[in-house]
Amino acid sequence: MRIALGVTGGVAAYKAAELVRRLQQENFDVEVVMTRGAEQFVRPLTFAALTGHKVITGMFGETSGEPANVESAIEHIAVAQRIDLLLVAPATADVLAKLAAGIADDFLTTLYLATKAPVVVAPAMNVNMWEHAATRENVARLQARGAHVVEPEEGYLACGMTGAGRLASVDSILQTVREALKVRRDLAGETVLVTAGPTCEDIDPVRYLTNRSSGRMGYAVAEAAHERGASVILVTGPTALEIPPGVECVRARSAEDMSRAVGQHLDRATIVVMAAAVADYRPTQKHPQKVKRGAPSLALELEMTPDILSEIGARKDGRIVVGFAAETERLAEHARRKLSAKPVDLIVANDVTQRDAGFDVDTNVVTLLSRDGREKALPRMTKREVAEHIFDEVLRLKTTGKKAHGRAKAGQA
Ligand code: CTP
Repeated sequence: MRIALGVTGGVAAYKAAELVRRLQQENFDVEVVMTRGAEQFVRPLTFAALTGHKVITGMFGETSGEPANVESAIEHIAVAQRIDLLLVAPATADVLAKLAAGIADDFLTTLYLATKAPVVVAPAMNVNMWEHAATRENVARLQARGAHVVEPEEGYLACGMTGAGRLASVDSILQTVREALKVRRDLAGETVLVTAGPTCEDIDPVRYLTNRSSGRMGYAVAEAAHERGASVILVTGPTALEIPPGVECVRARSAEDMSRAVGQHLDRATIVVMAAAVADYRPTQKHPQKVKRGAPSLALELEMTPDILSEIGARKDGRIVVGFAAETERLAEHARRKLSAKPVDLIVANDVTQRDAGFDVDTNVVTLLSRDGREKALPRMTKREVAEHIFDEVLRLKTTGKKAHGRAKAGQA
């Protein structure tokens, strides 16, 4: 998700650098807009280096060091449309007044009018300015329009006075950002091990057997888990995708490699999601040299690969394990069979022959079948949305499991 961070001219402007870092750790892509006042306190280069984006400093989208041009003149509209949230931190009394009045005399205040994204403001100023009736009214007007205001904290202020006015802690600002974006942190404390992508089973040094999995479903699961607060270990087969930031990546090529990698990291995991399309068979032998053309026909002998899910079953302990069932026919029947035959708590079943579902697309159509008998057919949605539903169901199973455990213990007592 993208956040525009408006930095305005107060001593606390330096704290915005830490804020950028922490937002990035939660996978937000941050671009910074600075007012002229802010430039007196911090150099735009600091934010450019931290974010990897140009820092907008001028009314017409000028970036530090570059004058306005035709494209930058309407940059406020482009930024307004691409962001998921506008955060102003620190917000001076002056910028609060401008936002409240709808004055648009620089890039940041124009962006506020032009965006439909949620707005979070974190004021910082002298205590008397904060308590002034004008500021109180401006804050109330912004809140009435839906802006989230992160109240400043009490403490020693840069002006030498003590009272309310110090920029709220980075933790409080982050919390408000998450609330405004409805980002949940309900997987905090969990470690999620996700497998993703296809496996490649070598025939000779240049040829291999594989399948059509792109890895997108597993990567979406990893990204969702990380954003909901989990530590994530992504065991991935060969894919063309970028590893989501903040996720620990373990690469595996064959089913054998994947089995080893899962085995090595399983002890740390509290939740396992097996989204990889693991080969069921591999060539019995890998030819050390390239197989030459010559024989009119050639037989490839295959042997079964390790069933990683079953291996996990032997070490399941209290973990919640999620398996996938990619089917081309009789979806419900096959999925129910896998649910009872495999050591899983949840099966995510999808018919890969459906339009906009399965391989190499961003959407999927799945049914979630849980061990306690619940079956939920979801409409077509993005793989990221499917990932969110999977974790909602995992958390439901965790809670019901704990309650049942509690009841059993009470019964024994
Ligand atoms: N799986 C696994 N190890 C394998 C094959 C599959 O752990 N060697 C996992 C997959 O990651 C998936 C689940 O098992 O979560 C079901 O995979 P799928 O290929 O649909 O089922 P299979 O058990 O292989 O059955 P079939 O191929 O006959 O449908």
